[in-house]
Amino acid sequence: MNSLTIHVLTIFPGMFESFLRFGILKRAIDKGLVNVSLKNIRDSAFDRHGTVDDTPYGGGAGMVMKADVLAASLKTIESFRLGKRENAPLVPVIYLTPQGKHFDQQAANRLSMAGEFILVCGRYRAIDERFVELYVTEELSLGDFVLSGGEGAAMAVIDAVARLIPGVMQDFESGMEDSFQDGLLDCPWYTRPEIFENLKVPDVLLSGNHAAIKKWRREESMKRTGLRRPDLYENAKENDLEQI
Ligand code: ADE
Repeated sequence: MNSLTIHVLTIFPGMFESFLRFGILKRAIDKGLVNVSLKNIRDSAFDRHGTVDDTPYGGGAGMVMKADVLAASLKTIESFRLGKRENAPLVPVIYLTPQGKHFDQQAANRLSMAGEFILVCGRYRAIDERFVELYVTEELSLGDFVLSGGEGAAMAVIDAVARLIPGVMQDFESGMEDSFQDGLLDCPWYTRPEIFENLKVPDVLLSGNHAAIKKWRREESMKRTGLRRPDLYENAKENDLEQI
């Protein structure tokens, strides 16, 4: 069975508790398909105040998360090991930061097959670069904006990845047909009533003609992608030609 273990290093493990208790994620966890293990970085602090940050060398506003505390926290993860030859972590250690590579559906697919990975949530101004250099195997960003910490980004990554584990979605098909899974945005969807404030559901969806509906949905997806995301459209058009 393709299950997944995600470790999260954070100073706010409580932020994840309700997030993990609802919907698809709760089901995935209850079924034993996804295991999320929360580590409070503060538990690895070296003083009785639980200090995890300090002022930056060279001055400047804000605080920097301490490399020694982060490394100590990472090493409490049983499966964390450095490879003998490269001295690099064997389990992916992912730091969530706006400086990272953009997280997308392709990255979600890749991580869903990793078996196990570690997410590091930063807070404050930054984390000490030496921790990144020594222990981080990959930096991921949700986009070109700044969050107050990595926790929101970690939740987005956990959600996007967990739903790709086979058996997590009630109907695995619906996962495979999501926006982006084939490089396209999703088509419009409708449910009852048939007429809502004078707007009628497109006739084709009431026709019962499954081939026509499939074709319409594909065309709507292409149209939408072309209008809203011309950057995705060119790639998708090539894939579409290959499918015919
Ligand atoms: N931490 C702060 N901002 C972030 C972003 N945009 N993506 C990922 N992690 C972050």
